[in-house]
Amino acid sequence: MRIASEEDPRDLDEVAQPTISELNLIDREPHVRPFERGLSRIIPETTDEGNRTPVECGARTRYSYGMTNRVQQEEGSKKLLQWVQQQAGLSRRKALELIEAGEVSVNGRSATEPSARFRYEDLESLSLRGHPLPIEEPERRIYKYHKPRDVLCSHDDPHDGNTVGRILRAEGFIGYTWAGRLDRDAEGLLVLSNDGDLVHAYTHPRFEVAKVYRVWTDPSPRPAEMKRAFASMIRGITDAGDQLRILDGRIAGRPPYAEVTLAEGRKHEVKRLFAHFGLRIVRLLRIRMGDVALGNLQRGTFARLSTQEETAIFASVESRLARL
Ligand code: URA
Repeated sequence: MRIASEEDPRDLDEVAQPTISELNLIDREPHVRPFERGLSRIIPETTDEGNRTPVECGARTRYSYGMTNRVQQEEGSKKLLQWVQQQAGLSRRKALELIEAGEVSVNGRSATEPSARFRYEDLESLSLRGHPLPIEEPERRIYKYHKPRDVLCSHDDPHDGNTVGRILRAEGFIGYTWAGRLDRDAEGLLVLSNDGDLVHAYTHPRFEVAKVYRVWTDPSPRPAEMKRAFASMIRGITDAGDQLRILDGRIAGRPPYAEVTLAEGRKHEVKRLFAHFGLRIVRLLRIRMGDVALGNLQRGTFARLSTQEETAIFASVESRLARL
């Protein structure tokens, strides 16, 4: 399971999140590709056997996806910080604080090193402030969440309580995280899961999960102008050294909005694409990520995918990971 870690660039993105009242105002700091900073750790490298290799882990078999031995060893284990975050449903900051304060015990002994690694089979007990935490793997699930405007995609933020992380904890989503952040002033679909592979696949640009956005501009898009802009966006534009492009674009609705499909997931990518053509965005809504559609989910609510949908998505992620 992947929870925000110190290498997790989502935390950095979140801190850098601008508070802007109008969507066309874009901060010009260097744009960080999601997960780019963590890639050296998670990009699979081919082993002799190539693809997916079963790794025995106590009672269960886990799969490594053609990773090197060092990474494989790390795969079978998790940092104490991750164990505590995941099993207690805490933010990274809080988990770190409690471990360093000596409030966490592993196998009956105080454990104060957050980066110490433990494999599932090494753990007999894990406790927090003397309270036992579960150490079994949870059932894998996928939910969708309609993030409203003004909610920050952050696990925890000292300056802003209105975070997705806090909402998830209040709603009992222990050990869950989301795939692909949305800006604070954007709204729509977030895919939530307690399965790290799924979140990784839905976030990492390498998997090219298509994301569909509806974009309202002021003034409303004029068909001929938008058609030209879509054609250029499909060819790709350069912004702050990044190549940004859409896969598809169309105008729909009344009042009209632009609907664009992107496969990459760079920071502020829709805003940057539209700003390039002088288009002022007033509303940005994500309606689809890969096989998951927002549908008619009400703002601020959650829905679990059906078992068939979950099974199909997990199977497709596993087969994509196995082919890498
Ligand atoms: N592109 C943006 O500019 N913002 C988002 O929130 C998502 C995609």
